[in-house]
Amino acid sequence: GPQRTQLHLEVNGQSRPVDIEPRTTLLDVLREQLDLTGAKRACDRGECGACTVLVDDQPMYACHLLAIQVRGRKIVTIEGLAERADFRPLLEAFVANDAGQCGFCVPGFAVAAYAALRRYPEADAPQLRWELVGHICRCNAYEKIVAAVCDAAQRH
Ligand code: FES
Repeated sequence: GPQRTQLHLEVNGQSRPVDIEPRTTLLDVLREQLDLTGAKRACDRGECGACTVLVDDQPMYACHLLAIQVRGRKIVTIEGLAERADFRPLLEAFVANDAGQCGFCVPGFAVAAYAALRRYPEADAPQLRWELVGHICRCNAYEKIVAAVCDAAQRH
């Protein structure tokens, strides 16, 4: 069978041992080995954004990265963001604006929005929309999601 490798990945500030095959994706490792299920698996082919995590502060699709590629890089999931005080305004804005219907896409949107607001604290609605362009919401709750992110920009 395929050769397995043991290594450590830095996830949410902790060094975590993982056991991978060359083909194992970061999303597989997070969900199946580390029990971090906030990053969702929807398309599993880099098209929907449900699996988004931060890799060295950049939002990336975890289903489209091999675990071996992110060795030595800082991975932060929605569970890690939930521990941060500066994530709270975004969380509150999603709740206040009733953003997301089934909620499945929300972690991915929230990770991307967090990164966008950190990078462009003065961003306006068109720019924030652009930052979220790689995310699909099957409930078509885009207007409320954008409203939440704009609201969070005000709360910062
Ligand atoms: Fe990764 Fe859709 S599950 S982009």
